[in-house]
Amino acid sequence: MATWSRRKNIDTITHQEKGQSLHRTLGWPHLLAIGIGSTVGTGIYTLLGVGADRAGPGVILAFAIAGIVCGFTALLYAELATMMPAAGSAYTYTYAAIGEGAAWVIGWSLILEYALACAGVAVGWSAYLGGMIRAIGIPIPDVLLMGPHAGGWINLPAVLVSAAATALLCLGTRESANVNIALVVIKLVALVVFVALAVPAFQGVNLTPFMPHGFIAHQDGGETRGVMAAAAIVFFAYFGFDTVSTSAEETKDPSRDLVIGIVGSMAVCALFYMAVSAAAVASLPYTEFAKSEEPLALILRAMDYPVTANVIATAVIIAVPSVILTTLYGQTRIFFVMARDGLLPNRLASVHATRGTPILVTVITGCAVALVGGLFSLDEIAELSNAGTLVAFAAVGLSVLVLRRSRPDLARVYRTPGAWVIGPLAIAGCAYLFASLPYSTMIQFVIWNSIGMVVYVTYGMGASRLGKRIAQGAE
Ligand code: ALA
Repeated sequence: MATWSRRKNIDTITHQEKGQSLHRTLGWPHLLAIGIGSTVGTGIYTLLGVGADRAGPGVILAFAIAGIVCGFTALLYAELATMMPAAGSAYTYTYAAIGEGAAWVIGWSLILEYALACAGVAVGWSAYLGGMIRAIGIPIPDVLLMGPHAGGWINLPAVLVSAAATALLCLGTRESANVNIALVVIKLVALVVFVALAVPAFQGVNLTPFMPHGFIAHQDGGETRGVMAAAAIVFFAYFGFDTVSTSAEETKDPSRDLVIGIVGSMAVCALFYMAVSAAAVASLPYTEFAKSEEPLALILRAMDYPVTANVIATAVIIAVPSVILTTLYGQTRIFFVMARDGLLPNRLASVHATRGTPILVTVITGCAVALVGGLFSLDEIAELSNAGTLVAFAAVGLSVLVLRRSRPDLARVYRTPGAWVIGPLAIAGCAYLFASLPYSTMIQFVIWNSIGMVVYVTYGMGASRLGKRIAQGAE
């Protein structure tokens, strides 16, 4: 079998070597919270403004389009996650369905999705904290609150919040997941309060024209505009639900818990985003909050609710780190599996004897995220993160279809309804969103994967555990 197309055996995919298995400690409430916890964050609290800037009131449509694509993908994820309840998400599914070469590209792209999203959210969170620090007059120099891109030295809050999330994950999955549940509740209550206060201020006139920049993504005076351009950025608000599938190996009852976790968290988030974006653009002309780093708080202040605005900002500061926590969790599990497969150095896959967590890989990932968060801006990283995610999501759709053909015999605990319609629609939706990203993002994505190819050809291809087992005649 060619190196590129060698595939993992689905029948044995969940049997892992002694000492390299994760502990099964998670139930469906944990998974639902992991899904919502890693989904609701900077995307709705901050990028809502960027989306409105690009699409006007049509940002509601942008949220709907991105939500539909993610909803289809969530259904497809659920089929694969229950069929292969092993860590690794889209990387593992692609390895079993398509082959090692494609799996490597997906794993490498998932680094963009998870690690960059983590760093981006840390930067977005830091902006809220910076505002609060200035408001109450704590004497911290501005150069320590922003990266070099904004004229500072380092974004220290972003570094510290990444370090804190890393420490929590090293302490153990269960502790981290329980903390996450409390933070999720705070975030959702903040959004409910926002909608409840904004709805009475509804003015139909704020919704016209609905699409001032048209539908298709295009360049306009150096800015990317249009409903699709907005959909390509607010897509960031939706991903995270796939983090649930990365914890499949630690789930007590994968067949039930994963479906509730993945599809449930997606549905809850889509509902909240529709309500929040509609309430936002209908209650205030979008131009008044489009450039704000904290659009929800700005809208509340404009409606004369300054105290509530501060309470919501505080809720964001307290709760958005849950996104960093769960996304970082997802990233470490993907590295863990890639290392266990031999495509990255195997030492990264060692699990701590009593904690049951992959500490080395967690610390390395946390340091990288802290570095990126400390030095780069949200704008620079969000779209590149989206590019990696879209490619991974498309691979999930493709993997479902390939396996329906190549392994119709496999027991499917959950079958995606109408997979031959939903699969192609999800793939086409991801492709259209990818095509709506700025060209510069696409170029960065190609460069990133070219680097990945060099790593694979010079290291992973030869060190692949599957390759060695095939050579020994064990597969
Ligand atoms: N979906 C996550 C957020 O919006 C990444 O912060």
